[in-house]
Amino acid sequence: MNRNTRPPESSDGARRVNNSADYARRRAAYARAQEQKAEAARQRAREKERRRENRRRAGRVFLGRLLVGVLIFLVLAAVAAVAFWIHFQHTSAPQEPVSVRYSFCGTDGGTLEEASAYRGGVLCLDFARLAAALRMTNVGDGEEMRFVVRPDASGGTTDSAGTGRDEDVVFRDGSDVAEVNGQAVRLAVPALFGEDSCLIPAAFVTRYMCGVTLTQKGNTVTVERTDADTLFLLQRADALSPIPEGDYSGLGGETGQTDPPTPVTDPPAEPDPPSPPEEPSVPTPTFTADLSAYEQYMDPADRDGYLILVNNSSTIDASYLPTDLTDVADTRKDGRNTQKMRLTAEKALEAMYIEMRVCGITDVSVTSAYRSYEYQTTLFNMYTQNEMAANPSLTLAQAQAITATYSARPGTSEHQTGLCCDMHNLPSADQRFAQTEAYRWLSENAWKFGFILRFPENKESVTGISFEPWHYRYVGRYHAYAIHEAGLCLEEYLAQLGR
Ligand code: DAL
Ligand code: ZN
Repeated sequence: MNRNTRPPESSDGARRVNNSADYARRRAAYARAQEQKAEAARQRAREKERRRENRRRAGRVFLGRLLVGVLIFLVLAAVAAVAFWIHFQHTSAPQEPVSVRYSFCGTDGGTLEEASAYRGGVLCLDFARLAAALRMTNVGDGEEMRFVVRPDASGGTTDSAGTGRDEDVVFRDGSDVAEVNGQAVRLAVPALFGEDSCLIPAAFVTRYMCGVTLTQKGNTVTVERTDADTLFLLQRADALSPIPEGDYSGLGGETGQTDPPTPVTDPPAEPDPPSPPEEPSVPTPTFTADLSAYEQYMDPADRDGYLILVNNSSTIDASYLPTDLTDVADTRKDGRNTQKMRLTAEKALEAMYIEMRVCGITDVSVTSAYRSYEYQTTLFNMYTQNEMAANPSLTLAQAQAITATYSARPGTSEHQTGLCCDMHNLPSADQRFAQTEAYRWLSENAWKFGFILRFPENKESVTGISFEPWHYRYVGRYHAYAIHEAGLCLEEYLAQLGR
């Protein structure tokens, strides 16, 4: 058919159709473009929001870290401030002066500043105030004060000494000798008089007075009557007088024991017949600490210079006084006087303490070392009096024999040589020290420093002294090693040497 047989559509209509299709396309394109724009805008907005959120998160993280940093800084600053304060308190801050408060028989005994309360490390009290509380009569002048136990003070006798006179004590200003019932006794520090005061060592009360107790808690010292009906008596005081020869039964012991001493019942055995000892070759000890500076003391050049024997049958003269007494660095710090030993022994002991501490033993200290003849006499007599008070049926000789099981008679104590010391970590010397780690260490190591256990457990019949795990004697390393190795006591060893 001819293309022209159908009448052609009008060109206006065709154009109209074309226009509307075109319009629709453009519209759709426009709509798409709009949609794309909107999508792009949403995308940008989301991106913006994401970045903002990131910034906020980073800000929060930064703030958190800053806060932690500030907190750490504050904690460190607080720790540093506390440490500085503690250091400052201990070093540069002036120490508050300590004053000691006294209470006598329930009444106020006043206070003393530290310098008066502790003279030379010895606790003192005002006896004038104590005497008033005990209703003793005080007669005296500026030089001398006499305190008399009034007959009505306790409702009993005031003549426990049997001297036919009232009991009294006399102190003299600046003197370390007092008189108790007419007998001289030694004070640890001299009496010191004030206007109305009489400062004397507090130990006087416990040593020479009966019916009262003295206790110290912190900075408060209390003296009390033990009970209202107990006779208040000054002890018999023959402290400086010579000891009458009594029933020597070869017993001995130690001062300051808390437990009843163990009496030695075995009769003294004859030491083994001497046989010439072999020259020991002493091993060179190794120490954890550097003790090279102490070698000359632990192993002295004068090897035999420290072998002195003091016991019941080998006594020491009352006038013997070592010339080289030195302060014992490791004296127990509880107010007692600094103990003394001969120089070489003290230095060797210092070395032992250095090594002991390095080995973890830090609580052992020296409670007693050199004792004068007079002091040993005071101790021995005091213990004897205590024995008699505890058992009034004892004769003096019997009481002395008992005392000798734990305190050597004057002139028989090697404490007077300045070559020994008592050391332990208990409140007072006690055989329980033998159960401690410190004792085990000493048993193994003391010889290396020149020390021996002077009164071993199984040698009572030879030494005449009960086991004293706390009493160490300096003889120098050479002899200490030989004694330790052979398991002998000093008496046996010297007998072997033929001395
Ligand atoms: N502890 C010893 C025996 C003395 O008092 O000498
Ligand atoms: Zn001792």
